[in-house]
Amino acid sequence: MTSRKPLIAGNWKLNNTVAESQALAGAIAAHVGDGLACDVVVGPVATSLTAVAQTLQGSAVGLSAQNTHWEDSGAFTGELSPTLLLDAGCGYCIIGHSERRQFFGETDAGVRKKVAALLVHKLVPIVCVGESLEQREAGQTLDVVLGQLEAATDGLDAVALAPLVVAYEPIWAIGTGRTAKAEDAQEVHGAIRAKLAELKGESWANSVRVLYGGSVKPANADELLAQPDIDGALVGGASLSASDFIPIIDAGARRAES
Ligand code: 13P
Repeated sequence: MTSRKPLIAGNWKLNNTVAESQALAGAIAAHVGDGLACDVVVGPVATSLTAVAQTLQGSAVGLSAQNTHWEDSGAFTGELSPTLLLDAGCGYCIIGHSERRQFFGETDAGVRKKVAALLVHKLVPIVCVGESLEQREAGQTLDVVLGQLEAATDGLDAVALAPLVVAYEPIWAIGTGRTAKAEDAQEVHGAIRAKLAELKGESWANSVRVLYGGSVKPANADELLAQPDIDGALVGGASLSASDFIPIIDAGARRAES
């Protein structure tokens, strides 16, 4: 039994129109109602955030953006800011997803600035870390993952970082159907928690939720969530259908009650 409340988050990536997003959010909200033993968050595309915020009104489901800029406003064509995400109804923002690092030039330094900006605005950063297959095969997993973590939190103290959520997403497990074995995932999660303790102290480290992401499905959610340092899931593909996402939510609630 841990005091960390499990968190099940859906990253919808580049999918769903406004109407589709509202329908999916509505089905999830109907299941979650005014709250379960785990927290539940959905992350639609930016153009659906405001509409989904309306759908989620009165439910306990939280709303996440998938990215932000670190500046509040100004000459930054195409960007969104923490202020605008708050205005749209968000409580969370995914940061440093491997797809952003791979395809859009996201750097550790940028991730750190975004984390700091989100915390100032009381948005919860969900910071993604993870190694590629090549890095795993070269035995570099912990160097890569712990290095990304250290960079993301550099210069920020445990008080400021209190709301932080970390998501460990091995790149080779994302969208591939190839999930990390629960024990292998736990090994990295345990190392993440030890690193967090080394960086900012044990009591903070014990309060930070560390999610697993990468081909999480109803069939593997319970096994992953039974691991001591896996506090929830960041779900891609399976979060796009209520009939897959709801059983994963229920697995999160079971973890809380076990
Ligand atoms: P999949 O669940 O589709 O593997 O995606 C995981 C992910 O990238 C969540 O952020």
